Amino acid sequence: MDRQPKFKPQSESRFFADGNTDRPNPANVVARGRSVEADARFLGEDDHMYRGYSGALGLPDNTQWLRGFPEDVDVSQTFLQRGQERFTIFCAPCHGALGDGNGITKQYGMGATPTFHSDRIRDMAEGEIFNTITNGRNTMFGYADKIQPADRWAIVAYVRALQRAQQGTVDDVPAANRSELGL
Ligand code: HEC
Repeated sequence: MDRQPKFKPQSESRFFADGNTDRPNPANVVARGRSVEADARFLGEDDHMYRGYSGALGLPDNTQWLRGFPEDVDVSQTFLQRGQERFTIFCAPCHGALGDGNGITKQYGMGATPTFHSDRIRDMAEGEIFNTITNGRNTMFGYADKIQPADRWAIVAYVRALQRAQQGTVDDVPAANRSELGL
């Protein structure tokens, strides 16, 4: 293994124009195999944006989850549509298109996927949902290596939209459109 043509880390190279064997990261790479705590340290300083909780690193207790969306996140219609698209790819197979836990995996015997339409998950801080996407929970794997932080927030926003959709009342419908409901 010692004697083979290879570049050793941080050594000189006559092949690359900058003289280094180490290559810079291409744009938009996602860190793999690291915890979100490490991402927060390496990628930015914003606890809300990268961790969803404040205070010491590690397993957060219930007082540390941050509510609402990070400052850098603009919850616009486009953002929600992005969240819907990402949700459909990454979450709907288990949680179902409505977030009711009735995804396709249920038909194949995976019965433990919870609905989002329970008081507990409705009341859950946005930061805790973000952390579940990042690090997973029990039998649900984390998605830190597949979904970038901004997209995780877009998914959180879409989860909120799904929850809201199940809680709608006639008051949410503009007066002018109510007749269309046959009311
Ligand atoms: C492979 C199936 C699967 C996929 C895909 C999946 N989940 Fe889950 N999810 C689960 C299961 C199973 C649980 C229950 C874990 C447990 O035992 O607490 C869960 C739990 C949750 C919870 C509740 C956590 C809690 O504290 O009770 C949330 C919120 C959640 N998932 C969001 C998501 C989002 C958002 C996505 C997409 C990024 C996603 N899940 C993708 C299977 C999945």
